[in-house]
Amino acid sequence: MSHAVIAIEGARKRFGETIALDGVSLEIAEGEFFALLGPSGCGKTTLLRAIGGFAGLDQGRILLDGADLGRSRPYERPVNMMFQSYALFPHMRVRDNVAYGLRAERLPRDEIDARVDEVLGVVGLHDLADRRPGQLSGGQRQRVALARAIVKRPRVLLLDEPLAALDRQLRQEMQIELKRLQHEVGLTFVVVTHDQEEAMTMADRIAVMRSGRILQVATPRDLYRHPADRFVASFIGTMNILDGVATADGVRLDPVGEVRLEAFGAAPGAPLAVGIRPDDVILLDADAPPPPGTAFAFPAQVETTVFAGSQIHTLVRDTQGRAFAATAGAGGEQRREGSACVVALPLAALVALPEGSA
Ligand SMILES: Nc1ncnc2c1ncn2[C@@H]1O[C@H](COP(=O)(O)OP(=O)(O)OP(=O)(O)O)[C@@H](O)[C@H]1O
Ligand SMILES: [Mg+2]
Repeated sequence: MSHAVIAIEGARKRFGETIALDGVSLEIAEGEFFALLGPSGCGKTTLLRAIGGFAGLDQGRILLDGADLGRSRPYERPVNMMFQSYALFPHMRVRDNVAYGLRAERLPRDEIDARVDEVLGVVGLHDLADRRPGQLSGGQRQRVALARAIVKRPRVLLLDEPLAALDRQLRQEMQIELKRLQHEVGLTFVVVTHDQEEAMTMADRIAVMRSGRILQVATPRDLYRHPADRFVASFIGTMNILDGVATADGVRLDPVGEVRLEAFGAAPGAPLAVGIRPDDVILLDADAPPPPGTAFAFPAQVETTVFAGSQIHTLVRDTQGRAFAATAGAGGEQRREGSACVVALPLAALVALPEGSA
């Protein structure tokens, strides 16, 4: 990893009985697009505000370029933040709302105009530049706030749910635009979201948070393929999870059998769940032999099947009542609801999922 712009060391913060940050340590590299992902109330905003210097910590410290943030004021730092609940100046046109921060820096007028125009283009608001906030929709206002945060090109830009008010299509477009912009100008972005798809689309690395702690920091691909525990596995995409028991060198699933698997230190006899993504689950005809490389195979019944254009989603249930989601490409066979089948789980696709610490 290149040089860390932001280093967080043992951050703790409580509000009365609530522990908002429970010992968070993290490094964010120069030029990185970093996402903080987790369910509501897990401490994302609290952490982002601390990085921006808008709120203190009870314990721990935050270094920006190796220097302790503790004593400096927010406006002295090369950091800008778009808040989850932002406010625009109601009496100013969109253009002036965006230009405000640059005017405060007393930049030359043509440079201000050029930068404001560029950013309005990025957020798709050129045509509305002369309106006032009261004449905009919620999504349009959110884009003004985003433009205002971006235009100053701080070294570190902190964005708290910047796309939450947008509809699905606009949101997807803006995700790509934000990523492009970040790449072009080489800024470091830290974005908070509770939407895993959004984090996966935009971020170079993602920190998954729960109850004030970081469970895992990894690239989107590694989070998907190698989730550290059960919570991360079910929070990122869909994961079929089976409850098993750790053995000396793997895992046993009753009653189907036992395989060798990296079990990450789970003691023999301890509960150990195993995960498999729906696209790795193989469905076979009831009498078909499982292919080579199968770890577990067992009979099941097709419950529902949905043709979703590019994919076929099938839900099956085994004789113990466990449900499995299986996804196949559109070229695959669509099984009849109620029919019998065999579920085959390839060994290479199984992930051991310890319970986790949170
Ligand atoms: N000023 C405050 N006073 C009391 N409790 C607070 C305060 N700010 C945050 N909390 C609590 O701290 C916890 C973490 O809050 P935080 O705002 O960081 O969550 P979040 O992950 O951003 O959630 P969301 O996705 O809903 O925005 C929550 O339980 C919240 O209720
Ligand atoms: Mg929040």
